[in-house]
Amino acid sequence: MILIDSVLKRHGALRAVDDVSLQINGGLTAIIGPNGAGKSTLLAAIGRLIGTDAGVITVDGMDVAAARSRDIARRLAILRQDNHLAIRLSVEDLVAYGRFPHGGSGRTPEDRAQIENAITLLDLEAVRGRYLDELSGGQRQRAFVAMAIAQDTDYLLLDEPLNNLDPRHSVALMKLMQTLVAVRGMTVVVVLHDINVAAQFADDVVAMRDGRVVHHGAVADVLTARNLTDLYETPARVDEHGDRRVVIWE
Ligand SMILES: Nc1ncnc2c1ncn2[C@@H]1O[C@H](COP(=O)(O)OP(=O)(O)O)[C@@H](O)[C@H]1O
Ligand SMILES: [Mg+2]
Repeated sequence: MILIDSVLKRHGALRAVDDVSLQINGGLTAIIGPNGAGKSTLLAAIGRLIGTDAGVITVDGMDVAAARSRDIARRLAILRQDNHLAIRLSVEDLVAYGRFPHGGSGRTPEDRAQIENAITLLDLEAVRGRYLDELSGGQRQRAFVAMAIAQDTDYLLLDEPLNNLDPRHSVALMKLMQTLVAVRGMTVVVVLHDINVAAQFADDVVAMRDGRVVHHGAVADVLTARNLTDLYETPARVDEHGDRRVVIWE
């Protein structure tokens, strides 16, 4: 369980995350909201990529502010919105970095199995030996997701992982997240821009705006025309197609 209690993160005078309290019990949770809402800041705080100014975040009872980095990394993998690396790495080397918290060598049979599994799951076999700067944006994005998967954690946090992905790889990645939840019992939290993707794949939705959580609940309760119209200040219509709900911006 991820427990966020009264968390504040300031950037100068701006309250990027403004007194957020949130409990994520499991499943696939989508975080949505307009640009600048504080989604990335909140995710980074959960993974302790940034510190906070007030409040407490625990993951399975572990206070992330006080925990050792390695203990966090064994429990939780996080993929940032923008991933840049100054060094020249192959896809395979990058994915192997995911094994770092588990000992570092990347060469034990367990390490090898996790690396191979992640490369296969993200459809990277054909480019596994290539350097990251020789990849398309979508291939590079998938390589970073594979690194996070290879980390083999109970918690996976992904910030806009569908950036640059074509429809085939977007759908495959969302289905992979569902499988990780259903088969491995993982808890996945993913920032999504496409509300229809959230509607189709998420169990729960957290809607943020101006640093605050304005809605949190099941897809059917949060993704209503009224909520979305208010959240994005853009008229939204929500249609039912069988068991799917489809958002149309007007
Ligand atoms: N390092 C930073 N310095 C100053 N302001 C920042 C920094 N990071 C984010 N912000 C600001 O905090 C707010 C929330 O940003 P962010 O969490 O990235 O939003 P989102 O991911 O929802 O688009 C924005 O107004 C953004 O400009
Ligand atoms: Mg963001």
